[in-house]
Amino acid sequence: MTAAAAGWSGTAQVRRSYAALVEHYTAMTADYRRFPGLRQELTAFLAELVPGPVLDLGCGAGRDADLAAATGRTVVLADVTPELLRATTARIAVDAAVCCDALALPLHSDAFAGVIASGVLLHLPRQYTVTALDNIRRVLLPGGKALISMKHGGRDGWRSTDDFPAPRWFSYYEPEEFAVLCRKVGLRVAQLDISSRKDWFTATTERSEL
Ligand SMILES: C[S@@+](CC[C@H](N)C(=O)[O-])C[C@H]1O[C@@H](n2cnc3c(N)ncnc32)[C@H](O)[C@@H]1O
Repeated sequence: MTAAAAGWSGTAQVRRSYAALVEHYTAMTADYRRFPGLRQELTAFLAELVPGPVLDLGCGAGRDADLAAATGRTVVLADVTPELLRATTARIAVDAAVCCDALALPLHSDAFAGVIASGVLLHLPRQYTVTALDNIRRVLLPGGKALISMKHGGRDGWRSTDDFPAPRWFSYYEPEEFAVLCRKVGLRVAQLDISSRKDWFTATTERSEL
């Protein structure tokens, strides 16, 4: 088994940090108040998807899954932090929830019209990014799309902040550098947007044939 297939040992710390702050994190992120423009971006993304279910990978408090479910889609939640996933499934109605690591998704191939991966792959060191992207591509239907949010302009490493006072790993990419990795695994980059929300950028990608 490769290191990537086995997961990354640092994810245990990331998970402990989210588990320690479930209520606080949910209060901060369960709606769009702190994320100007994000609801519109997701609504546009969801409107263009081929028929089929949506996966919210690294769903956190489930804000985006809730929006996807409101469009009538079948929605699956996936997150590595069981405490957060439990709290989210108790709050919002979705079709299924899976506690898992983005590096080893226990989900069928060719299954999802859309994958939302907001602020999740940045919690993996960069040597794991391609494996996580490859998992996303694998679970997409032909013609399926993934909306992937990442951060740019910082130094990779562990950090805690006033807003989130527990250690989390962050990997930062320049948008074009991230786009190269998407293309490498067979995700065509249809759009690369630098967000007006602090240091975020978003890649809208589509499964292409390798
Ligand atoms: C910054 S939060 C984003 C939550 C949500 N997507 C949002 O935008 O509000 C990151 C989420 O990813 C989860 N996570 C971190 N590392 C993960 C991994 N390797 N696999 C799956 N989920 C992970 C965390 O538990 C947390 O819920």
